[in-house]
Amino acid sequence: MARKKFIAGNWKMTTNSQSARTLAQGVVKGLGDESSVEVALCPPFPWLGIVAEEIKNSPLSLGAQNVYPVNEGAYTGEVSPTMLADAGVKYVIVGHSERRHGMGESDFILNRKVKAALAAGLNVIFCIGETLAERESNQTNSILEYQTTAGLVGVDHGSLSRLVIAYEPVWAIGTGRNATPEQAQEAHAFIRSVYGNLFNAEAAENLQIQYGGSVKPDNAAVILGQPDVDGALVGGASLKADSFLAIIRAGLGK
Ligand code: PGA
Repeated sequence: MARKKFIAGNWKMTTNSQSARTLAQGVVKGLGDESSVEVALCPPFPWLGIVAEEIKNSPLSLGAQNVYPVNEGAYTGEVSPTMLADAGVKYVIVGHSERRHGMGESDFILNRKVKAALAAGLNVIFCIGETLAERESNQTNSILEYQTTAGLVGVDHGSLSRLVIAYEPVWAIGTGRNATPEQAQEAHAFIRSVYGNLFNAEAAENLQIQYGGSVKPDNAAVILGQPDVDGALVGGASLKADSFLAIIRAGLGK
């Protein structure tokens, strides 16, 4: 069975209540009832309700950018998996490099987040990726293998259909320097083999692996055309409906 393409927009810490609403409306309108590609919007927490309202009668899904690995309690400032599910969130991004490297999140905490989110019924977009120094010292595969293994230890087989991996080379995020289609394909095929060893061949075959890092309308088609690239996690180019829709169309092969 061919894997469905999955395009997610990571709005990061941008937009305001009005621009978030307008952006969601633009994507809803442009997407229409197209459902042969999966599309998710991941706004900042305060606009989850606004975006949920705008996408209600569309094929779009709602995503969040972070989660705390406990459902309730004295954790000032944090947001729980069950709260996200209650707010209509389907996907949550875990392990984005801006959180690994910017906020110091460890493989251990990320693994807790993955398991807690899955346990609450959420789908997880688990991000991994090497830094430029790691790539230049030929450590890409060992980093990808380590992050995949450490992040997914203890995940039960029953929830694998709700897990997506995003390969996001740190040097490509927000830099305008995307991985070449060959670099993306090579990394994705490697991640799929690691995942197959961790779980099983069928799970690996069904796993959607997104590429992220400077995906734009003009490079999306060739990257998304690689056999092991099953979608994109899009930052900057998801902030305008037109460019995000152009990437979605590339995912459809149009
Ligand atoms: P970018 O971000 O598309 O702006 O490079 C991708 C991401 O951080 O997920």
